[in-house]
Amino acid sequence: MQKKNDLLLRAALGEEVERTPVWLMRQAGRILPQYRAIRNKLSGFKELVQTPELACEVTIQPVDELDVDAAIIFSDILEIPEAMGLPYKMVESKGPLFPKTIQSQADVDALKIADGARDIGYTIEAIRLTKKALNGRVPLIGFSGCPWTLFAYMIEGSGSKTFSKARRMLYQQPEASHQLMQKITLSILSYIKAQVAAGADLIQLFDSWAGILPPQQYAEFSLPYIAQLCDAMDEVPVTVFAKGAYFAREAIGQLDCQVVGLDWNMSPSESRQLIGNQKTLQGNFDPCLLYADQNTIRKEVRKMLEIFGTNRYIANLGHGVYPDTPLDNVKCFVDTVKEYNFSKIY
Ligand code: CP3
Repeated sequence: MQKKNDLLLRAALGEEVERTPVWLMRQAGRILPQYRAIRNKLSGFKELVQTPELACEVTIQPVDELDVDAAIIFSDILEIPEAMGLPYKMVESKGPLFPKTIQSQADVDALKIADGARDIGYTIEAIRLTKKALNGRVPLIGFSGCPWTLFAYMIEGSGSKTFSKARRMLYQQPEASHQLMQKITLSILSYIKAQVAAGADLIQLFDSWAGILPPQQYAEFSLPYIAQLCDAMDEVPVTVFAKGAYFAREAIGQLDCQVVGLDWNMSPSESRQLIGNQKTLQGNFDPCLLYADQNTIRKEVRKMLEIFGTNRYIANLGHGVYPDTPLDNVKCFVDTVKEYNFSKIY
């Protein structure tokens, strides 16, 4: 039988590890030819998400191909808005689009609180299948978007450079905004609890649009809802990745989570100081560095590992891997982390 790899979980909990665990955000996706082959046979992205056997297959592809130390379930953060009553389309080579958006108190009232196991049952089933197929080979990460990031898509209706409609809503309708944030939070909670019940070993919360809020609004409209989620999740370790929220690192360090994700703008040593020693840090290699030559990649990966140190650290990128990244360079990143000689720095 294969030896079980629980490096990620031990690092998340602050236990000693023989080497630094490594995985990549968006590792299951277009960087892999195996993914593109399956994807091209289907009607679209959503068919892949909603077919548990296929979602299971593409979740395991990067574990086979890259030998990473974790699998992350293949789905999307936008399943929650859909489960609440706001369907989306994934427009080929453009991104998500919500035909209907939230603009008023009445719109907020019309949304339901999702029941994760029932309304997003296909992903819950995909977790069950994946967990069984992995058989302990590596931990399985479940995930959700954070309330603010989902709110941003639900108001704006699509991606945006400024998310000014979503930000405007916070100023014009603060009460309705809080009510929506609370409904989203309860939906997320139901969903991540169902993920854990189905076998997810760790939950990562993505606040991809954290960095567009002013610090005070982040403190009022995002953090308290993330805190609710962290407080309610004591079954498995939780990772909070708030992209661009350098201003909130101290507060994120106070959350009841085990891991804090850093983007590539955040200095490791400054982050460690602000966040404290009680959290594991995850990140933060610039995904663009994976377009450099492999000698540069190896040099920069070693630099990153030296700065973060061996304790309470999970190697990853500072955001998702870009779809056109050369696969050999992704492998070079993973292999360099795995080959790094720990003893050198003891
Ligand atoms: O490998 C993994 O990380 C697991 C799967 C995963 C996907 N999306 C698959 C996906 C995860 C964890 C996500 C999270 C997600 N989705 C986030 C948070 C992380 C981040 O990047 O900040 C966000 C903001 C989304 C919303 C989303 N989904 C956008 C904006 C897009 C279009 C942009 C793009 O990359 O094409 C998606 C589509 C999407 N989600 C793809 C994948 C593999 C590409 C779709 C395809 O195959 O055509």
